[in-house]
Amino acid sequence: MTSPELKQAAPLPKGDAQASLDHPVPTPVSVTRPATAKRPPGPVVPAFTQVLTALSPVRIAFDSLKYILENARIYGGLYGIYSGDTATYVVSDPALVHEILVERHSEFHKAQMLRTSVGALLGNGLLTSEDGFWRRQRKLAQPAFHYGRISSYAQTMVQSTRDLIHDWQDGQTRDIAHDMMTLTLDIVTRTLFGTTVKQQAGYIGRLMYVVLEAANDRLNNYYPIWDKLFKHKQRQEHAAIRELTGIVDDIITEHRQHTEDNGDLLSMLMAARDDDGQPMSEQQLRDEVMTLFLAGHETTANALVWALYFVSQNTTVEDRLMREIAPLGNRSPALQDLAQMPYGERVIKEAMRLYPPAAGATREPLHDIQLGGYLLPKGSNIAISSYAIHHNPTLFPDPERFDPERFSPENEPDIPKYAYLPFGGGPRICIGNTFAMMEARLALATIVQGYTLTLAPTQSVRAEQLFTIRPKGGLKMIVRRRAS
Ligand code: HEM
Repeated sequence: MTSPELKQAAPLPKGDAQASLDHPVPTPVSVTRPATAKRPPGPVVPAFTQVLTALSPVRIAFDSLKYILENARIYGGLYGIYSGDTATYVVSDPALVHEILVERHSEFHKAQMLRTSVGALLGNGLLTSEDGFWRRQRKLAQPAFHYGRISSYAQTMVQSTRDLIHDWQDGQTRDIAHDMMTLTLDIVTRTLFGTTVKQQAGYIGRLMYVVLEAANDRLNNYYPIWDKLFKHKQRQEHAAIRELTGIVDDIITEHRQHTEDNGDLLSMLMAARDDDGQPMSEQQLRDEVMTLFLAGHETTANALVWALYFVSQNTTVEDRLMREIAPLGNRSPALQDLAQMPYGERVIKEAMRLYPPAAGATREPLHDIQLGGYLLPKGSNIAISSYAIHHNPTLFPDPERFDPERFSPENEPDIPKYAYLPFGGGPRICIGNTFAMMEARLALATIVQGYTLTLAPTQSVRAEQLFTIRPKGGLKMIVRRRAS
């Protein structure tokens, strides 16, 4: 998916390829076709080109998001990127997405690529586990994410945001991408472990950063040569994982000494029992904690980064947000205010449409399957691109325009099913979606209430797709305190 240079288009299979060109944009309705051995159309990338360009400036210039959209326009809602004897199948037809994530979900596992890049850290946690093991874990973890439970975290979310902006100085230029990462990591650390590790949050954040960057590198450069050339990075990653594991083990041991429920996520996970009355094993607990750590911060950070960016570019949006927040006066937003602040939710949703924080979902079929009239072999790499779906003009007219009104009560019901999926769908839908929306809405309101942000004059904005879709090289913005 992140192939650096894709020069030559594959000879298009006749018939379907032509149909895709005539109707360049995928439609939400897939056509049932007879069984076929035909592979989806798509570009061919010579394997040697990938290796050569892995380390060259071409990779830096390559815009994988643009490439994905171009291919979807040319080939339709299911195409392949072929390189040597490997293929990645990119899906952006909502009907096919529904087929994969919901109707036929038991015929797929997460793609090997995911386990290769984050398996060392996450082990058999919720994000990477499968089948019966995953089902048991999901059942055990689910109660910790019920609304009633996570609503008690609202105050922590606001307090963390206040702590962050407390350090901002009027007129200062800040890397907002870095700030939002710090913020969401602080929130996930406090809500997972309680207040006991507040002092360690910064250190944990730095370790997480090392691991995440290494995983992102691996995702982007999946050639063995990469690991050989950058051995020191691997060593740093392993050291960070060891350190993190030690910290998490200490926290778990410390929690074990208190039998009462401390109200944090870890306490809930520790108290959970399966149908046989069994708790999670020590290893399992650690894997789940690492998973929540990883899955629970970079995504929300990017939702906030893009929301702040779009607000800074749209004065009418900013004015409307301010009018919504005005009744609070100088008081910080709280959970009970959210019902009166629907516009903030629309802003977050629209930011996640334009830049879905999790670039998509990956799957591999457990056997050869027929999908959309094509054959996808067992074990092939499938990438569901929410980015391509969210930018499809037949699903979202004028798709590049930032318009929170797409999510107004009048308009939202018109969005076709599985055309908007920032949190995925089906049984493996994000367990933290309610948590994330609450966090993003409260943090956005708290920041906008205190500061107005403008893009730094030297900052050019380009999104890059790694695990998440984030601004390449960060996002420098000038923060100005609002008159109270
Ligand atoms: C805006 C923020 C977030 C976005 C966009 C997001 C997106 C996603 C997506 C797309 C998936 C499905 C992946 C797939 O099907 O392969 C997922 C799964 C998951 N997310 Fe999130 N997520 C966010 C925040 C969070 C938070 C805050 C947490 C936890 C505190 C979390 C924990 C998880 C976990 C554990 C899974 C795996 C669930 C399972 O397979 O049972 N996420 N997320």
